[in-house]
Amino acid sequence: MRPVPPPQTYRVKSFGCQMNVYDGERMGELLDAQGMAPAAEGAEADLVVLNTCHIREKAVDRVYSDIGRLRRGDGSAPLIAVAGCVAQAQGDEIMRRAPSVGVVVGPQAYHRLPALVAEAAAGRRALDTDMPAAAKFAALPPRRRVGASAFLTVQEGCDKFCTYCVVPYTRGAEVSRPFADLVAEGERLVDAGAKEITLLGQNVNAWRDERGRGLEVLAEALAALPGLARIRYMTSHPNDMTEGLIAAHRDNPKLMPFLHLPVQAGSDRVLAAMNRSHTVASYRDVIERVRAVRPGIAVSGDFIVGFPGESDAEFAETLRLVDAVGYAQCFSFKYSPRPGTPAAAMDGQIAPEVMDERLQALQAALQRSSLAFNQAAVGQRCKVLIERPGRRPGQWLGKSPWLQSVYFEGDAAIGDLVEVELVEAGPNSLAARLLVPAPA
Ligand code: 5AD
Ligand code: SF4
Repeated sequence: MRPVPPPQTYRVKSFGCQMNVYDGERMGELLDAQGMAPAAEGAEADLVVLNTCHIREKAVDRVYSDIGRLRRGDGSAPLIAVAGCVAQAQGDEIMRRAPSVGVVVGPQAYHRLPALVAEAAAGRRALDTDMPAAAKFAALPPRRRVGASAFLTVQEGCDKFCTYCVVPYTRGAEVSRPFADLVAEGERLVDAGAKEITLLGQNVNAWRDERGRGLEVLAEALAALPGLARIRYMTSHPNDMTEGLIAAHRDNPKLMPFLHLPVQAGSDRVLAAMNRSHTVASYRDVIERVRAVRPGIAVSGDFIVGFPGESDAEFAETLRLVDAVGYAQCFSFKYSPRPGTPAAAMDGQIAPEVMDERLQALQAALQRSSLAFNQAAVGQRCKVLIERPGRRPGQWLGKSPWLQSVYFEGDAAIGDLVEVELVEAGPNSLAARLLVPAPA
C-alpha cells in the first residue's frame, strides 16, 4: 500500500442493526476527536468506513461491491476501513481479496480506529479483530451532539447460540457495561439534547450490573434524569424477561409501552431445532405477564421463515401465533444460511420458492396484525416525539409511545414532545391532529 497524507475528512456508512448505528456514531466521534471532519454531503471523503453487517444475505459480496464502487473516476480511491461484523468474521479474507482496503477493524476493537488509520496512511495495512471484554467503551471520547432519540449500547454479544445466528461468533460472549458508565453516558446524551434513550444490546435484557441487578435498575436510574422523557430497550430474549423487568413496565412511567420480543417461529419442534430454549407456550406466557401489568403494550417480534426442515404445517403454526399474539409491528426474514453456524449444515434446506411464498403469507398476516393494532388506537390522545419533517411541507413525523410512526401538521419542531389525537390508521403509520401547540 502506498503512503497517503493523513485523511482530513471521513464518512461512516453503517449497515444492519441499531447497534451498528450506535457504533458508527461513536466511530465518527473518535475521528472528530482526531481533528477530522465529516465529508460534506455529496463530497468525496478521504476516509470511508464501511460498518458492515453479517446477519443475513450475501453480506460479504455486498462489501466487495461497495469497495469496488468507492473507486473514483480518475482511478484513485479513498482510504477504506472495513468495520463491523463482516470485518470480524472475514477480516483476513478481506485483506487478501481487496488490496485497496487499508484497515480491517472488528466491533470490539474500533476504539483503535484512529491508530489503525494512521498506520494505513503511513503505508502499512492494519487489521485488529481482537475481542477483549468491553475495553473499547472506556477508550471512546465523550458523547457529543445527538438527536432527540439517542441509542445507548448497554450490552454486547450473545451466549444463546441459536443455530442459525452468527452473532455469538461476530460479537462474542455477553458482556454488560458497568452501571455507573451507562448512567454517565445517559446524562451526557440528555445534556446533548436527547429526550428519548433506547438501550441497545443483542440480548439487552440479559444486562446485569456488577451486583447482578437487571435492566429495570438502569431504567430507573435513567428515569431520574429530569430532561429525559422516554426510555426504550431492544432486543430482548424471552428467557431473560425477569419479574423485575416486567414490573418496571408498571412502575416506571418513562419506560415506553413497547416490547420487542423475537420468537422466530411458531412451532416447538422448529424452536428446538433453532436452539431457542423456549417454547411457544413459554413465549406467550411472558407476553401475558407483561400485558397484565401494562395493558395495551405494543408487542413486536422477529420471524424467520424456511428454517431447515420447516414443514408447511409447522409454518402454519407461525401464522397462528401471529394471529394469537396480535403484533403491533414485526420484522420477518427468509432463513439465510450463515457460514459456520450449525443450521447451515442441517438437512432439509428449504427451496427459494417455498421461502418466498411463506414470507409473503407471513408478511400479509403481520400487516393485518399491525393494521388492527393501529386502528384500535384511532381516537386516542398521546404524546409524539418529533423526529423529522414529513414528506409534505408543514408536516411532521414522530413516534407515539407505542413506537408507531405518526404524522401531522402544525406549529412544532424536531425534538418537541407534542400532544396529538390519532385520527386515521394504516399498517405502517397513523395520521394525527396536533392538540397542544409546542412550547415556544
Ligand atoms: N437468517 C435469517 N434471519 C436471521 N436472523 C438472525 N440470523 C438469521 C439468519 N441466519 C434474524 C432473526 C433475529 C434478527 C436480528 O435477524 O430474526 O432476531
Ligand atoms: Fe442470535 Fe439467538 Fe443470540 Fe439473538 S439470541 S443474537 S438470534 S444467537
